[in-house]
Amino acid sequence: MKRIGVLTSGGDSPGMNAAVRAVVREAIYQELEVYGIFHGYSGLISGHIEKMELGSVGDIIHRGGTMLYSARCEEFKTLEGQKKGVEQLKKFGIEGLVVIGGDGSYRGAQKLTEHGFPTITLPGTIDNDIPGTDFTIGFDTALNTVIDAIDKIRDTATSHERTYVIEVMGRNAGDIALWSGLAGGAESILIPEEDFQMDHIVKRLTRGHDRGKKHSIIVVAEGVGSGVDIAAQVQEATGYETRVTVLGHIQRGGSPTAFDRVLASRLGAKAVRMLITGEKGKAVGIQKNELVAHKIDEVLSQRHKIDNDMYQLSKELSI
Ligand code: F6P
Repeated sequence: MKRIGVLTSGGDSPGMNAAVRAVVREAIYQELEVYGIFHGYSGLISGHIEKMELGSVGDIIHRGGTMLYSARCEEFKTLEGQKKGVEQLKKFGIEGLVVIGGDGSYRGAQKLTEHGFPTITLPGTIDNDIPGTDFTIGFDTALNTVIDAIDKIRDTATSHERTYVIEVMGRNAGDIALWSGLAGGAESILIPEEDFQMDHIVKRLTRGHDRGKKHSIIVVAEGVGSGVDIAAQVQEATGYETRVTVLGHIQRGGSPTAFDRVLASRLGAKAVRMLITGEKGKAVGIQKNELVAHKIDEVLSQRHKIDNDMYQLSKELSI
């Protein structure tokens, strides 16, 4: 293998830049040429592809977003779009590709694999919803952004003796809600993987209120439904003044944490080494602090699971 490409796709996540840097620098270290593909699979189809040098990825390790830009590309879901992508890769003499993104990006990478093109994926999403890895790049940073927000909201919640519903991202996964709710000392955590009963939430809130608690925090994963609706239901059922904050896209930005930078660097370098040794159709990840690789189609066939022990613990500690 002489020349590889790298692209970022889907929702951006803090640490994608560190991953791109690791791919580019490791490739050059291993005496490969490396090309950046801009705007995800859209840029692959249109041929927005440029040679990367050591300096192309200077001064980005600490930056959020992705210097390669990102996109969600409908055309790449079609056979025609995929063929155009493979043609561009051939035209540029690219022999292997590293795709950094979430499950939609993995589906695109699996299609390239089925077309016989050597592709390795890295888990880049704040949602932490990719099977076969304990952590995705960007999750830790998003979590810290949410915790910062919860701590701030708690100050004003206490001053006004209010209940707050905080809606967080995660698409269909509850990891951001669960981890931030546990770390932020939330009274209740609502995640799509577990059913909830409003009367249990109300009991928990009234118990705290009767004990003299000055505020309550309920973290709701967006996959459960609208935080605004939940807040209305809580206020109606308890009579407590309730406010809602939807954190939205601030969760996707910001300088990546040290954890995300290190994770991205380790995974990015591993992907390059795997391409060199002829591996393809694999998704790299980290499990029990060991770098691992699973077949992309196997990863896609599994359902993401939350950590049940952590969910149980969150309930015990917020009694
Ligand atoms: O997958 C990352 C994510 O931020 C999800 O948490 C969220 O549901 C979605 O992307 C939002 O997508 P968009 O930026 O396209 O609105």
